[in-house]
Amino acid sequence: MELVVRTLSKQYPHKLAVDRVSLTLTPGIYGLLGANGAGKTTLMRMLCGILHPTGGEISLDGLGVAQEEYRACLGYLPQDFGYYPGFTGEEFLWYMGALKGLPKAQARRRA
Ligand SMILES: Nc1ncnc2c1ncn2[C@@H]1O[C@H](COP(=O)(O)OP(=O)(O)OP(=O)(O)O)[C@@H](O)[C@H]1O
Ligand SMILES: [Mg+2]
Repeated sequence: MELVVRTLSKQYPHKLAVDRVSLTLTPGIYGLLGANGAGKTTLMRMLCGILHPTGGEISLDGLGVAQEEYRACLGYLPQDFGYYPGFTGEEFLWYMGALKGLPKAQARRRA
């Protein structure tokens, strides 16, 4: 499994937040470090398909971010997220599993 990012850029109206980033990630654990405003969140949001790049490409074994098989491999916990206060932590994970299309037993096991 290989995630390839090629000359990825994001230009906001008055700010170039990500400037031609290229990297290749294989299975493992990575940290993304940078000063406040360096573009970490912008990069992560593009990798998740929440934001569209203004330049460059992202591909996971040849799949594009918009493709269902790419999304199926993706888990993303943003810094700030919405939460239904009536759910326990476990119920919230079941709910996320349901939204992701996991069968009930699998969602419960993985939660
Ligand atoms: N929606 C937006 N419109 C315009 N500029 C933005 C937008 N989002 C972020 N920026 C700007 O782009 C730059 C990168 O922001 P980003 O949030 O990606 O950085 P970050 O590395 O995640 O910062 P932090 O460490 O504070 O979380 C910053 O200068 C920010 O002000
Ligand atoms: Mg951030």
